[in-house]
Amino acid sequence: MSSQRVVLVTGGNRGIGRAIAERFVRDGYRVAVTARSGEGPEGTLTVRADVTDAAALDAAFTEVEQQLGPVEIVVANAGITKDTLLLRMSEDDFDSVVATNLGGTFRVVKRASKGMLRARFGRVILISSVVGLYGSAGQVNYSASKSALVGFARSLTRELGGRGITANVVAPGFIETDMTAELPEETQKQYKASIPAGRFATPDEVAGVVTWLASDESGYISGAVIPVDGGLGMGH
Ligand SMILES: NC(=O)c1ccc[n+]([C@@H]2O[C@H](COP(=O)([O-])OP(=O)(O)OC[C@H]3O[C@@H](n4cnc5c(N)ncnc54)[C@H](OP(=O)(O)O)[C@@H]3O)[C@@H](O)[C@H]2O)c1
Repeated sequence: MSSQRVVLVTGGNRGIGRAIAERFVRDGYRVAVTARSGEGPEGTLTVRADVTDAAALDAAFTEVEQQLGPVEIVVANAGITKDTLLLRMSEDDFDSVVATNLGGTFRVVKRASKGMLRARFGRVILISSVVGLYGSAGQVNYSASKSALVGFARSLTRELGGRGITANVVAPGFIETDMTAELPEETQKQYKASIPAGRFATPDEVAGVVTWLASDESGYISGAVIPVDGGLGMGH
């Protein structure tokens, strides 16, 4: 049964990743989360890992495999922003965002793919952002790291699509988490005015799309970019 499958969500201790892990638990999956700090929600196995550290990730995967079994569904969710205008953006602002958002996805998916190939089943779900294809002033680093996930998922689809493995991108718009809470109130107001839905989304609205992509119903969807953005990025 699909709901018995093993899921790993990176950055499952808070925000969107936590909501995704909660929803998988509710649907009866066996769920592990990686966290640098804190714990995943009730009913999950928390393993420690920084996604910029391949050795730590490998150890985390081994622990999940020993306790729950091979990872069949992986959600690459861990991500950061370091917003500033291009002229002020330091090498570190750029490199650290790319190393976490894009490099982290590479490390996690590479490690997960071993078990998926063996099982001839896998669901790879990458959490991008509306900003990846829409663009955003002050987010050259973040936007580049997030649009790269589209090429990643589509290349993976061509590479592993014949082995029962799908790879899709979920592109959230503005979601109520710590990441958006940091934005000044006036900026939040302006963003809401530009979103056709007129509001930000809850993390659970993203989680519902992720669990659907992981289900047997979506087995013929691969290389897709699914927006969860209230219409903000239409056409991009
Ligand atoms: N919020 C939004 O409006 C929005 C919109 C579009 C896309 N997204 C994307 O959705 C994802 C989750 O965002 P969020 O809003 O839930 O963010 P958040 O509340 O800031 O949480 C980020 C998560 O990523 C983890 N993380 C960051 N760097 C990591 C690293 N090097 N290694 C391991 N874990 C790391 C954090 O762990 P710690 O707690 O240890 O820091 C935390 O669990 C991100 O990829 C983000 O880009 C968010």
